[in-house]
Amino acid sequence: MKRILVTGALGQIGSELVTKLREEYGASNVIATDIRKIDSEVVESGPFELLDVTDGKLMSEIAKKYEVDTIMHLAALLSAKAESNPFFAWNLNMGGLVNALEVSRELNTQFFTPSSIGAFGPSTPKDQTPQDTIQRPTTMYGVNKVSGELLCDYYYHKFGVDTRGVRFPGLISYVTLPGGGTTDYAVEIYYEAVKRQAYTSYIQEGTYMDMMYMPDALDAIIQLMEADPNKLKHRNAFNVTAMSVAPEHFEEEIKKHIPAFTLSYNVDPIRQAIADSWPNAIDATAAKEEWGFKPKYDLCSMTKDMLSKLS
Ligand code: SER
Repeated sequence: MKRILVTGALGQIGSELVTKLREEYGASNVIATDIRKIDSEVVESGPFELLDVTDGKLMSEIAKKYEVDTIMHLAALLSAKAESNPFFAWNLNMGGLVNALEVSRELNTQFFTPSSIGAFGPSTPKDQTPQDTIQRPTTMYGVNKVSGELLCDYYYHKFGVDTRGVRFPGLISYVTLPGGGTTDYAVEIYYEAVKRQAYTSYIQEGTYMDMMYMPDALDAIIQLMEADPNKLKHRNAFNVTAMSVAPEHFEEEIKKHIPAFTLSYNVDPIRQAIADSWPNAIDATAAKEEWGFKPKYDLCSMTKDMLSKLS
């Protein structure tokens, strides 16, 4: 990777990935794009272009202008938001992805896009969810993610595009809040713990989902993109996770630092149904074996870091 185009650069992953890539590969070699422009480090620390990912022509023009050799396509509507406007989600998530893959094919670039634990559904084995298993998701986001995984494999087999990707769990960060996801509670809980020593969870006690701290997610992206292609048996949609947790586990950990913290529940049936359709704990063995995935943070060290950064 030398010159990288990032879509969705102001989103939860993008805003930190761009900073990290600029440190790693040089600020002028990371072209951040997003549909909006706001005062932020991403906009100020290197090249930035406005881009609606459904505009494939403009995406191609920007990629050519900067002579990029890698595309990291992050722009997407998350799970809960997608349920409120499924048709729009399909057009944005799939239209954006196929445009980015086309530009990648045209310019022969490397390609990364994240899939998600949302690509699994109620008939998927819930515990130690295998890399290759049943995928019949019941959300529009999940349908988009499975289709995206297949499409990325297709572009590799059909056109030789060097597509790579992971299935991210809920990502937790103190820099940018996620928006419209089912796992967002796991980020909000830390902000609220620091602000008012209390949080009301829209996800029910006892609901396990996979999570990971953002620094591990960023390392995973770079590691996978730098991995020896000969070692990759899979290319896209590697299961990655650092912890399988339910709301009460966050409560327990936060209480170690903020003893007055209280957790209450006001369950949102829509997001709860999505969470119930996802695995409890996925198996990341393939990522570990094929490209050395090794997250550094567990719930304890992540909680310590989150609370100190937010305080
Ligand atoms: N964090 C995402 C969501 O909740 C899952 O990929 O939608």
